[in-house]
Parts: sequence; structure tokens; C-alpha cells
Amino acid sequence: MKLYINRASPFARKGRIVAREAGITDRIDEVETTVSPVAANEALARDNPLIKVPALIADSGEALYDSRVICEYLDTLHGGRRLFPSVGPQRFAALRRQALTDGILDALVLCRYELAVRPEGLRWADWVAGQRRKIFGGVDALEAEAASWADEFNIGQIGAACVCGYLDFRFADWNWRPGRPQLAAWFERTARRPSVSETAPPA
Ligand code: BEZ
Repeated sequence: MKLYINRASPFARKGRIVAREAGITDRIDEVETTVSPVAANEALARDNPLIKVPALIADSGEALYDSRVICEYLDTLHGGRRLFPSVGPQRFAALRRQALTDGILDALVLCRYELAVRPEGLRWADWVAGQRRKIFGGVDALEAEAASWADEFNIGQIGAACVCGYLDFRFADWNWRPGRPQLAAWFERTARRPSVSETAPPA
């Protein structure tokens, strides 16, 4: 299988963590590719018309996207502990947490583009403030839950690790840790997990 990634992308990181937790990295060729909201990438566009990473080319040749579909697909390829709980309240708690963390990541990536790619004179401070409300509201919701996670590590916690890692990577000056001791302690432990440390964004 071929997995288009960009090491900076928190959505690609979700897929990379799932592949490691599932123990199937030997079946996946990670292909680093450039993505930009303002530049073409013809090779990626042939497999994913949305020109986003991650995109997975399965052994059958079928292209799969987005990160939610890829992660759930990869979770069908191994016999170990399910990263998407298959039934009951645990399933919907994990899916709801994935929705929460994907929503935070969407807002973070939009802010990254606004603050790093958009020409300075065109930036819109009120819009960034609106995204920050979503981001920190979401991070506060994770803080309220983190103490109850114990050793649970499914798609919900994988998303949370990608949120914390991307905040540290692109928004270190936003200083998310003060007032969020549970999430900070959880991420300090979780960052040492091999699937998480091996997929850390580039220094
Ligand atoms: C980034 O450089 O922050 C980035 C790269 C790819 C996708 C999303 C974000």
C-alpha cells in the first residue's frame, strides 16, 4: 500500500500512528508529498481530487481518503486490539472524540494557512479569534476528559495526541498547557509511546 503523507500534517499523523499501533507498517510505503492550499500537486490530485494528505492507495489500487476512512480501513487489516471499538457506547465515545479532535485540527490547519501562507495585509484577526474559540473550547473539552482515559488508546486518544503535537509544532506561542494539567500530563506520557514518538513532526 502507498500512503501519501506530509510529516508536518496532523491528519497524516493519525494514519501513521494507526499503522504503527496496528503493527502493519511493513505493508505500507509512506510517500512524503508537498501540499499547499495555493499550489498544485498533480500526482496527489490523480489519487485524491481534494489534494490532501493522507491518501492511501490500497493493494487493490483503490484510493482511500480522508484520514477517518484510512484509519478505519487500516484497523480492519490486523488481528490486534481494535482502534475503532466495534460496538456499544465505547464506539460512539471514540467516534465523538475523533470528531472533536478532527474539528480542532481543521481549525488549527486553517489558522496555520491564515497566519503563515496568507499575505499579511489580507489577514483577518476576527476570523482567527473565532477559530481560536473553537480550538481552545475543544482543547478544554479534552482537558475535562483526559483524567478518565487511563491506558485507553483508540482513535479518540490518537486524535488528541495529534492535536497536542500540532499545537506544540506550529503554535508553541499559544501556550496551551497552563490551566490544562490533565491533558498536559497525559500528553507527556503519551508522547513517549513509540507510535507517537516515531511520527513526531520534523524539528
Ligand atoms: C503544516 O505544514 O503545518 C501542514 C502541512 C500539511 C498539512 C497540514 C499542515
